[in-house]
Amino acid sequence: MDQIEIFCPGSVANISCGFDVLGFCLDPIGDIMRVTKTVTPGITIGTITGQDLPKDPQKNVASVAAIALLNAHPSKYGFRIDIEKKIKPGSGIGSSAASAAGAVFAINELMGRPYSRNELVQFAMAGEALASGAAHADNLAPVLLGGFTLVRSNASLDIIKLPSPPELVATVIHPKIELKTIHSRAILKKTIPLDKAVQQWGNLGAFVSALYTNDYALLSRSLKDKVIEPYRAMLIPKFKEVKAAAIKAGALGSGISGSGPSIYALSRGIKIAEEVGVAMKTQFEELELEYEVHISKINNEGIKILH
Ligand code: HSE
Repeated sequence: MDQIEIFCPGSVANISCGFDVLGFCLDPIGDIMRVTKTVTPGITIGTITGQDLPKDPQKNVASVAAIALLNAHPSKYGFRIDIEKKIKPGSGIGSSAASAAGAVFAINELMGRPYSRNELVQFAMAGEALASGAAHADNLAPVLLGGFTLVRSNASLDIIKLPSPPELVATVIHPKIELKTIHSRAILKKTIPLDKAVQQWGNLGAFVSALYTNDYALLSRSLKDKVIEPYRAMLIPKFKEVKAAAIKAGALGSGISGSGPSIYALSRGIKIAEEVGVAMKTQFEELELEYEVHISKINNEGIKILH
């Protein structure tokens, strides 16, 4: 095989109760990446359509991740990466993770699959670190493994794939403003009060339990964030109103998607998820703010091979 074309999906990280450790994979939104074997060794970026991104292999998250993979597993061939970038950087739905995970996934396939999807996360982390200034795997893990994932440790990359309750549907609204992860991380406090930590790990444990038992009511009670959301909410126009509208329309829970500005909601069934989308967008229309709404089932497969 000399060329592979893949679909690299977006993802929602944090899911309110699991900052830097929880995430799930989206279905309809993602980039297309084509990787071609070349006789000249090394990584090159070919064409990038859709967004204006660096082509210097040391500055592009896809090539930085690919270089990390080749450092661990050298190849006599090189690889050219072409990207149709559909996920806007700074949108909060895992743009850099899609590129970094896609690059290592595709090259791993072209090299005869020396690594498992789980093992590929360590190389994709190099791209994520470049984009956000911190190596966190909460977007990469669901993109590579699919479904919901829990990162027990970002340092040792102990990653667990979690079950997806069958009726869960996500609604994601993306206001067309750019919020760089590096900036929305910079405003966070480095310490949290004990009472807030207790609430947060209670919610995280309960959320994981709810996924295993399909307990939608428990899942709803667990989708809370007293640690990160209060700081980041002020960076997103009408965040509180959009979230309240989503809950009023029937969502099980709602919060900031990754580091924002996108806002996610989880609902039971497609009908409610669509009604939630309508309720959320009404808020941005009042501001005359441009937005996109995505309704997505949980993508249990992660990255998909197209050709
Ligand atoms: N956990 C990361 C953050 C996700 O919230 O900063 C970034 O998409």
